[in-house]
Amino acid sequence: MAKVFDAAEVEKHNTRESCWVTLYGKVYDVTDFLAEHPGGAKVILKLAGKDATEEYDPIHPPGILEENLAPEACLGTINPDTLPKPEAQPEPTSTEEDQGPPPMESLLNLDEIEQVATKNVSKKAWAYYFSASDDKVTKSFNTAIYRSILLRPRVFIDCTRCDLDTSVLGHKLGMPIFVSPAAMARLGHPAGEAGIAEACRSFGAMQVISNNASMTPEQIIKDAAPDQVFGWQIYVQIDRKKSETMLARINKLDAIKFIVLTLDAPVPGKREDDERSSNASAPKPAGGSPEKQTEAGDAGGGVGKQLFAGTDPSLTWKETLPWLAKHTNKPIVLKGLQAHEDAYIASLHTPQVKGIILSNHGGRALDTAPPAVHTLMEIRKFCPEVFDKLEVWVDGGIRRGTDVVKALCLGAKAVGVGRPALWGLGAGGVEGVKRTFEILAEETKTSMRLLGVERVEELGPQHINTRLAEQQIYDGPSGLELVRGTFRAKL
Ligand code: LAC
Repeated sequence: MAKVFDAAEVEKHNTRESCWVTLYGKVYDVTDFLAEHPGGAKVILKLAGKDATEEYDPIHPPGILEENLAPEACLGTINPDTLPKPEAQPEPTSTEEDQGPPPMESLLNLDEIEQVATKNVSKKAWAYYFSASDDKVTKSFNTAIYRSILLRPRVFIDCTRCDLDTSVLGHKLGMPIFVSPAAMARLGHPAGEAGIAEACRSFGAMQVISNNASMTPEQIIKDAAPDQVFGWQIYVQIDRKKSETMLARINKLDAIKFIVLTLDAPVPGKREDDERSSNASAPKPAGGSPEKQTEAGDAGGGVGKQLFAGTDPSLTWKETLPWLAKHTNKPIVLKGLQAHEDAYIASLHTPQVKGIILSNHGGRALDTAPPAVHTLMEIRKFCPEVFDKLEVWVDGGIRRGTDVVKALCLGAKAVGVGRPALWGLGAGGVEGVKRTFEILAEETKTSMRLLGVERVEELGPQHINTRLAEQQIYDGPSGLELVRGTFRAKL
């Protein structure tokens, strides 16, 4: 018969020396796990002695507890009658906030969807999704650069028909817009990454599942359409066994067609919105003085920093791709390339590497790194042969159909969105993500028709004027001589 605990008993165990939490009605002794928790001890100690279910659930996929805690860590169950009563909610006033979010079809662009989501989601979710590194220069530039590119519409072309069908890595898609790996979707809405997958199904869109998804890959693809295309993003862990175990799981899932290896964040960027939100929720001990900010193993620094704890910063061309080849036969797409030299080196690693995603992690890694458009233009300038050997996708800053079209004109095969999918969830669950896709798809089609273009593959540099952007892209010296010469010998 499992032991039943009063909440008052559990509450006594709220220190590093003895740390208990209640999760889903069960009492766990997590003292020995504190030092191992990837997100550090601090985030658990904030909830020590309490019912942590509400904080824990939106962030952790099912099965994590069993994977990380010994069976004996579960001490028994909590007597629900002894739990503190939830505070009475104030009577709803008749303000618009209390009327809930507006109908999704009334939202006309991705900024309006983000505004509704910002009111809907928790401060913690908003801070994690919105945040970007340092002064958010790259996050802003990701969008601004698209505005600096002009389109060149042609006339007297029958534009009755227009469709967004395309294919990536040989898989047919209903549109060239995909969901980039974006973590913690259930922080924004309980439908989570599976809700994003449901929306993708309606548009034939591809979804790359985050290594740090708040649902298991199996849950996310459970209702996939037979031809639905998923990728799975890996952050290689310092404990390589963990990554090898996950790859073995992914290898069994046919709906996941490729592995995305993210390379632009070997260490996390400094995301002050995320850090501030986390600090604000940190408890102050009785004396009121802030708890010692850093203890051994404390990741601190918000949700983002905690998710990166345990990520291997030692990856190299020479070691990591051969290691990956030993643990999966699925095609590899390298994400986070931001220099034409790396795009060229990636093209030397076909056929294992089938594609690259030019990305600066939505500005969440190195601030003042270049936007993907710059790297696309660098490749066109210094090593256009890369486009013949690899598929080149981009993400970052996409807010309009015209942005999608401009990336495609520059040679991108597919265009990823991260935050917009999360804001869609936060604004209206699955319907919010569907509305996000609907807006982007319609705007993309309108742009193509006004350019006089019927199919995605007809888009090209003749449809855009990039003279302003050209003045800003990196202009050498190119490292290619090194790569084509002695550097290549070092690989
Ligand atoms: C982030 C990781 C999880 O940007 O991709 O927070």
